[in-house]
Amino acid sequence: MTIQTDEVMKAAQEVEVSESQIAVHWREEEYFVPPAKFIGQANASDPSIFDRFTEEKFPECFREYADLLSWDTYWHTTLDTSNAPFWKWFVGGRLNASYNCVDRHLAKYRNKAAFIWVPEPEDQVTQAITYQELYKRINEFAALLRDFCGLKQGDRITFHLPMVPDLPVSMLACARLGVIHSEVFGGFSGAACGGRIADSKSTVLVTMDAYYRNGELLDHKVKAEEAIAEAEKQGQKVDKVLVWRRHAGKYSSKTEMVKGRDFFVDELLADYKGKIVEPVSMPAEAPLFLMYTSGTTAKPKGAQHSTGGYLSYVAGTSKYYQDIHPEDTYWCFADIGWITGHSYIVYGPLTLAATSVMYEGVPTYPDAGRPWRIAERLGVNIFHTAPTTIRMLRKLGPDEPKKYNYHFKHMTTVGEPIEPEVWRWYYQSVGKQEAVIVDTWWQTENGGFLGSTLPALQPMKPGSCGPGVLGIYPVILDEEGKPVPKGSTKAGNICIRNPWPGIFQTVYGDPDRFVSTYYAKYNKKKDSKDWHDWPYFAGDGALQAEDGYYRILGRVDDVINVAGHRLGTKELESAAITVEEIAEAAAVPVIDELRGRAVEMYIALKPGQKPSKQVEEKVSGAIERLIGKVARPKNIWIVPDMPKTRSGKIMRRVIAGISNFTSPGDITTLANPEIVETIRQQVQSEKVKRGETPRELTAKELEEIKAFGKAE
Ligand code: WTA
Repeated sequence: MTIQTDEVMKAAQEVEVSESQIAVHWREEEYFVPPAKFIGQANASDPSIFDRFTEEKFPECFREYADLLSWDTYWHTTLDTSNAPFWKWFVGGRLNASYNCVDRHLAKYRNKAAFIWVPEPEDQVTQAITYQELYKRINEFAALLRDFCGLKQGDRITFHLPMVPDLPVSMLACARLGVIHSEVFGGFSGAACGGRIADSKSTVLVTMDAYYRNGELLDHKVKAEEAIAEAEKQGQKVDKVLVWRRHAGKYSSKTEMVKGRDFFVDELLADYKGKIVEPVSMPAEAPLFLMYTSGTTAKPKGAQHSTGGYLSYVAGTSKYYQDIHPEDTYWCFADIGWITGHSYIVYGPLTLAATSVMYEGVPTYPDAGRPWRIAERLGVNIFHTAPTTIRMLRKLGPDEPKKYNYHFKHMTTVGEPIEPEVWRWYYQSVGKQEAVIVDTWWQTENGGFLGSTLPALQPMKPGSCGPGVLGIYPVILDEEGKPVPKGSTKAGNICIRNPWPGIFQTVYGDPDRFVSTYYAKYNKKKDSKDWHDWPYFAGDGALQAEDGYYRILGRVDDVINVAGHRLGTKELESAAITVEEIAEAAAVPVIDELRGRAVEMYIALKPGQKPSKQVEEKVSGAIERLIGKVARPKNIWIVPDMPKTRSGKIMRRVIAGISNFTSPGDITTLANPEIVETIRQQVQSEKVKRGETPRELTAKELEEIKAFGKAE
């Protein structure tokens, strides 16, 4: 063995420090109380609401959420556990999601805005779409999907749409017919979209010619060609491509329209003017949509969400946690291509007849005052966004909010843990100390919030999401499945002990993966039909303080959360390895001030290949093409070899330590421990040259880097 540096030796000794020992170093933050004005008008301001959702009242407590909807047929069984862990909610019930979001509001709110859409270019006119207008557009597009595309209940369809009103119109038209929509985030590449088309076996792709992003009209239709080619490679043929146009009557893409396959939606719609489609009465357990999420293995998982359970859950949580009233102007600044947008831009707010704001572009275009101008102009009073956006606005325009005369009563943060410092800026500067904040912890798979304070009734604590939400009973388990003592601030795996209506039904087409990923870890009785035997494994590390509040530490597996986008390491590595010269690739996260985490790629070349800028560029290009711009690595390191276990597994946690200037951990079990020091010198000296030495990491960040790749 070669000589080890002091640092590596020290690292080897440090490994026995447990997660909990690191976590207890955290400082407890002070409480912030909700403003009296907020409490005075809140949907939930009477503490008796907690009594209605105690564990003894489970599962019947969720009747209250379901009763926010209009049912065609009322259900007979609230929760059916006979095929655990494939839970069925509100069995026997029938309803239609499109009817619940739109039709039923017409009598009272026909000419109230359902959506207000703000185009990115500031000289383009903001559009208010009333419930009546939305109703018409949904019906016409539903008629087109049914009569022109031949789609019916249970069929799948893929959308690759940006933030335009045509997206919720398309979603709600599908919901009207019982067609299962699968929206792929517009910023994802054509190839990523193609994989999702193939997995869901969609025959129709709905896309758009172009959209504005950072001042540029981007060609989007070009991605449809890549998507179709990729889907075909994976055995799925796309028959029809429906193309919405960003500027009516004007085609803004360079790609040819393929005759007989590609159609302009605005042209087709001429035949469906004024058509009304009866909403199909769907069983509560019928799937409403798929939302793909990155996992630990190469293939993204299609989280399948139900109609009745999902819609009840987003309605209930929108009412109590987002505090939405019909008279509010609510702006969730997320992309509908993510679960947050599905649940809290479209389905949740619309069930409550809210006015939901949609913005096409980037937060800082043309400057960091843009969001606040929008808020002022539209009279937004509820604001909802992610830490990555908050950090960016804080960096580029810390004093912008006070220049604008808007007033929020309520704000949300979602998507990753928020740093207490950033939380305070959000509270003081953005919220002007007038707004209550909810930090909502949840996942694509969950449908809606799992952890949050109830805004009028529980104080806020920066950096903690709060306790489990109404009807959610979390527990922190250690690796053996033993509960970590309540309130002990010891870290472990946060799990939810009970099922809830918003939980996804399965991984589309792969029920075994559903069970193995989310339930197998802590289930001891495979045949049990008792929900108590099936804790849901969220895959996040967390700790609970004495007051019952949870602090989420981040993923325990190897998913990298870049600006709120979950990227699977395997997905990234698979993309890199498509480059001919490459033998091996490993993706790790680095702490990044702006984006939370950025990706760094380690590459080992095939024998005979030489490191070059060109190879690096090819890797970046491949990742961008196959996954999307957001995944573009911050650095690519071509190294002589990867640190590996004796069984040949790449030790990602070791290189994650190097990238972040933290301890690589125990390297004594490696087959080639000497390589660690070689790589460390190469990477860290180059980083020093580039001015990329990190600030001192927090205990939480250290813990995350240390835990990275632990699941392997
Ligand atoms: C992380 C987004 C801390 C967490 C709705 C989770 C959070 C993953 C929070 C899911 C929060 C989300 N505090 N961490 N408030 N919200 N996360 O599927 O690690 O895109 O497992 O769903 O984001 O990301 P997803």
